[in-house]
Amino acid sequence: MVHAATARAHTNIALIKYWGKKDAALRLPFTSSISMTLEKFYADTSFTLLPSTQESEFILDGEQVSASAAARVMTYVATLQQRHGVSGTFRIESHNHVPISAGLASSSSAFCALAAAFAAAYELDVDRTELSRMARLGSGSATRSVFGGFAKWERGHDDETSVTRPLDEHPSLDLSLTAVEVDTSPKAVPSTVGMRRTAETSPYYPVWVENTEKACGLMERAIAAQDFTRIGELAQQSALDMHALTMTARPGFTYFQPETLAAISTVEALNDAGVECYFTIDAGPNIKVLSRAENVEEIANRFRAHMPAVTLTTTSFGPGVEYLA
Ligand code: DP6
Repeated sequence: MVHAATARAHTNIALIKYWGKKDAALRLPFTSSISMTLEKFYADTSFTLLPSTQESEFILDGEQVSASAAARVMTYVATLQQRHGVSGTFRIESHNHVPISAGLASSSSAFCALAAAFAAAYELDVDRTELSRMARLGSGSATRSVFGGFAKWERGHDDETSVTRPLDEHPSLDLSLTAVEVDTSPKAVPSTVGMRRTAETSPYYPVWVENTEKACGLMERAIAAQDFTRIGELAQQSALDMHALTMTARPGFTYFQPETLAAISTVEALNDAGVECYFTIDAGPNIKVLSRAENVEEIANRFRAHMPAVTLTTTSFGPGVEYLA
């Protein structure tokens, strides 16, 4: 038996957003979603089986995580152990190359890397579809990080059918993403909490579900056609729809901060100046700008001039989950 394994999973950004679960325990979503896996943001996670005399531990970026903070991860591993009929104490060691809880989808890479390391450490015979199920149980968005390029999480109707499939793992499309970090402090409303409140209380939620399924179909077609403009338009609209929806929860809330609106205005100004670009925003105040590679520098210069305090990182398509050891 292999007693340890290390996996690297890249974060993904949803171009058509997932925002709400119909089954919280299985993390079955109300809608399908479509993502782009990102090259520069990833997590490296090792899973090591320990002798039974040692207690399980979770070390994140070199520091032991307290029992309460580690609870979600420990519960998740217990769920996987039960599901696969394995047991034992373990050490998880994870290095995150992405700001945590800042709307940069850190949970997508974290839970995908953990699922993959777990499967390898126990020598489980799982294909990537099963890995996408396992990752989904940790965090919905993690299911999409199993694959590189463009991926679609089919909402399905049960554990078996709610899986991710690759749409194009090696896109030749010229698509860059510039992450504009206006604030990297942990978000006030975690996405799990925010989406639950929205799905349970917003009178507009059924419209979101119907519309998002349609948007997925349109996005799939745009990806197949390698249509940069259409992909950008659909992604931006899905983000605006999601953030409009949070305001209609009871009570309503928003992830936007004043800098988020300033960043949106900057994207508008760039378009007015003839630089075609679009934005998307996850459960946080930061925005990500989608553009062609040739415009990345001008976009960065415009942000530096308008918003000198922001941190900018430009990236493009990343690969699916891979093993390092
Ligand atoms: C706005 O995947 O973090 O990034 O399943 O509760 O862990 P849980 O939620 P999570 O939510 C992601 C929300 C989003 C949209 C998306 O990635 O599709």
